[in-house]
Amino acid sequence: MIKLTIKRIAELANVSTATVSKVLNGKDKNISEATRRRILEIVERENYRPNRIAKGLKLKKTNTIGLIVPDIKNLFFAEMAKGIEDAAEKKGYSVILCNSNNNRDKEEKYINMLQDRMVDGIILTTSENNIDLYFRDGQVPIVLLDRNIDADLNIGRILTDNEEGGYIATKHLIDKGCKNIGFISSINKNFSSYNRFIGYKKALLESGYKINEKLIYTGSFSIETGYNGTLELLKNSELDGIFCGNDYIAIGAIKALKEKNIKIPDEVKIVGFDDILLAKYMEPPITTIRQPIYDLGKEAVNMLISIIDKKDTEMTKILKTELVERGSS
Ligand code: RIB
Repeated sequence: MIKLTIKRIAELANVSTATVSKVLNGKDKNISEATRRRILEIVERENYRPNRIAKGLKLKKTNTIGLIVPDIKNLFFAEMAKGIEDAAEKKGYSVILCNSNNNRDKEEKYINMLQDRMVDGIILTTSENNIDLYFRDGQVPIVLLDRNIDADLNIGRILTDNEEGGYIATKHLIDKGCKNIGFISSINKNFSSYNRFIGYKKALLESGYKINEKLIYTGSFSIETGYNGTLELLKNSELDGIFCGNDYIAIGAIKALKEKNIKIPDEVKIVGFDDILLAKYMEPPITTIRQPIYDLGKEAVNMLISIIDKKDTEMTKILKTELVERGSS
């Protein structure tokens, strides 16, 4: 698209394509002001996409941040996006929000689209099962938010201590007297879920319990996974507690238990993860591991803008979680 546009602009301005490229790339010190102005006026008048590119290249900044989230329906990402937008606005940046719908190829398409649109940086939460790497060093500054990718790349990372959160959730169920505790979560390749699983196992083993594969069910961070996973775990009649990988899974688990007339928390106790707005309004209100969701977004913006402005900044920041005890445990 740019090549075709540069050719067209060169014809209209009666200059070479090399001259147009120099002007669009801000390398125009040897070009007369009249020629430079004529080229930029054509770019503006023809309203080609390069006018954003020309402006961006000339100024080297567009004061725009790209944000890619995996599931815009999930209240976790809605609150996170609010933290991002509020922090960006305070710093004079606007945000282009993209929803990858948990599709890795769509994620990659958006990374490329955002770079074409000359964003100054990108904040990315990868899809649930994306663990492979498709972006390279030296592209536009990127901050991974919430979900890590295990790669030696000079990119920022704002994460939560998921292992500690999983440990606290499971230890809470053990302290409440549970002896057959299930784990239902997203597929374990996803770092958020995998590290919660590590914390779950650590708490069980530390208290002398064995890991029972029949009490582990993985799917996605969804109500359906919570519902179907609980029905599966209930085949073990000893089940007395479930650590759910996020609050939507906990909502599905509660629905399944209620359909089976199983009392919560007397017969089966439930702990979720995130503390989305809905958690405290469920019946029973969900005991959960609160993530600092709004602050995760704010910290991601602060880190990204420090990287954009080439300021010294720590490239990995891990925020703490906390147990919020309610009626489901
Ligand atoms: O609810 C969505 C989940 O995916 C959250 O736990 C968050 O950590 C993200 O990884």
